[in-house]
Amino acid sequence: HEINWTLEMAEKQGYAHFMLKEIHEQARAVKDAIHGNLEIINKVAEEIAKYEKIFVVAMGTSYHAGIAAKYLLQRLANKTVLVEESSEFRYEFEDIVDENSLVIAITQSGETADTLAAIRLAKKNGAKVLSIVNVVGSMATRLSDLVLYTHAGPEIGVAATKTYTTQLTVLMMLAIALAKKLNTVDRKYLMNLEKQLQELPKYVEVVLGYENKIKTLAEQLVIKRDFFYIGRGPSVATALEGALKLKEISYIHAEGLSAGELKHGPLALIEDGVPVVAIAPTGKTFEKMISNIQEVNARKGFVITLGDNEELKKVSQVFLKMPKIDELLSPIVYIVPLQLLAYHLAILRGNDPDKPRNLAKSVTVE
Ligand code: G6P
Repeated sequence: HEINWTLEMAEKQGYAHFMLKEIHEQARAVKDAIHGNLEIINKVAEEIAKYEKIFVVAMGTSYHAGIAAKYLLQRLANKTVLVEESSEFRYEFEDIVDENSLVIAITQSGETADTLAAIRLAKKNGAKVLSIVNVVGSMATRLSDLVLYTHAGPEIGVAATKTYTTQLTVLMMLAIALAKKLNTVDRKYLMNLEKQLQELPKYVEVVLGYENKIKTLAEQLVIKRDFFYIGRGPSVATALEGALKLKEISYIHAEGLSAGELKHGPLALIEDGVPVVAIAPTGKTFEKMISNIQEVNARKGFVITLGDNEELKKVSQVFLKMPKIDELLSPIVYIVPLQLLAYHLAILRGNDPDKPRNLAKSVTVE
């Protein structure tokens, strides 16, 4: 009989789009990121442990991984971390970065022009450069002193998905390795984190199972024009990345922000039915998050919460029960339903999520 599958369809392994396939690959990708770095991570931690001046440079989704990294490195290794967009760093930091600095460059492709320029500046000024990269042999790997690979496999969809969750995984491993070396946190807590890290693929698998629920939610939300994503601590990264995914592929206006900023302006935009996605894992500032959510409720916003505490149900229109996991690891799991939400909204609006308008997989010119 006739075979009417194109090569591209075969490569998508039955998924409608590369993006959807790549979202579903994340349990596997995270597992490979863990196993691929188990041996090297302590060696890298050893080489960077002494640096007190740490800059993280990246763009787009990788920049959001950098935001999460700041919380990981600060909470676990007591380091002061500055996260900068490479495009700003390359022009603003020539007098700041020096031989006592560690620059961590996060780049999926290893070819983003601004990030390469940031790396070159760092090298010129004598800093140590560690890159977190997906594409083997890319320019960033050749310019850096140290490289950690994310082992996500090729990512075809323009919107980053599995490369983000694997970046977060590698950064978490690095923060744990540093904490061990520097003795900055309680051993037992660290061991528990390591155990949960190993279980990440399982948690990712669990939330991938929410797809039908997310699809129904997307149908409900397709008429909305503006979205807000709020979080605190490491969940700020999830808020920013959730909003970015929505903008990139569904072309719906979205803002991601730290929940504390809500009162300083964005709250003026919350009116009846405006969707607010609150990322609220149990953690340091959970109670603060509840009050932020209540502020949204008072303006009749449409509140969607992601969390593990049932208390959230009382303050939400839609509550997505997430697996219980340490707040520091939660960004890896919590972003998955938000990727799916952006994907299904894009489909409902008739967009091709693999090839969003005006955007490129890798921005190799300034
Ligand atoms: C482009 C892509 C994004 C990506 C960003 C940074 O804008 O569309 O998905 O996050 O570049 O890319 P990099 O390869 O440096 O991570």
